[in-house]
Amino acid sequence: MCSGSTMTQMDRTRLFDGWADHYDPSAAAEDDFPFAGYERILDEVVGLADVRPGMRILDLGVGTGNLAARFLRKSCLVWGMDFSAKMVAQARASVPQATLVRANLLDEWPISFQQRFDRVVSAYVLHESALDTRVKLLKRIATDRLSPGGRILIADIAFPTTSARAEASQRWAASWDEDECYWAADEATAACNEAGLLATYRQLSACGGVFVFTLDQSG
Ligand SMILES: C[S@@+](CC[C@H](N)C(=O)[O-])C[C@H]1O[C@@H](n2cnc3c(N)ncnc32)[C@H](O)[C@@H]1O
Repeated sequence: MCSGSTMTQMDRTRLFDGWADHYDPSAAAEDDFPFAGYERILDEVVGLADVRPGMRILDLGVGTGNLAARFLRKSCLVWGMDFSAKMVAQARASVPQATLVRANLLDEWPISFQQRFDRVVSAYVLHESALDTRVKLLKRIATDRLSPGGRILIADIAFPTTSARAEASQRWAASWDEDECYWAADEATAACNEAGLLATYRQLSACGGVFVFTLDQSG
């Protein structure tokens, strides 16, 4: 079972600081693992979010602001969090209307982010943590940070099943990072259901897709 990045937080923020200047071309131009379908996948997050003007959106791991920008174009109010100072600086330049903060999404959130949002979204971020860490985070967000009727949308490097993920690890062995916990939808859905979350998943490229999570209020 993948246990997540073994790098220290300082090393991880340094890694993303170093990536910030050339992140956009590397993500958008990728036709292969891990970013295949990147633009379409972000568009799908917005489609599945089904927003109205004025809705409050939180983007976790906002990066340079590519997903946040899409919600601003829909006249939403956008908050973004990222632990890389350089990524936040890029986002401040590209989405100045968003409220941005430098913080680790796995730590206690800054006070101004301790509120409820209509949608909490994240793209290409959570695969850095182990599945049980992600499930606990998603449950906490669904319980404490979503408005009634809210939903969480997660786009990431993901596969429909654990066996599809195992095949992919062979196919892309040269660029597969064993420290990263790429999603398998069957495994993630079962773990989330167990924790009281409903989950749906849509595969959108050979290595990427979008989850929608809501609180299971049937029990
Ligand atoms: C691959 S980039 C994705 C950026 C953006 N979401 C996108 O789709 O283009 C991952 C981003 O998540 C941030 N990140 C990763 N782990 C984080 C954490 N634990 N807390 C806050 N930000 C984090 C990184 O600094 C980086 O900006």
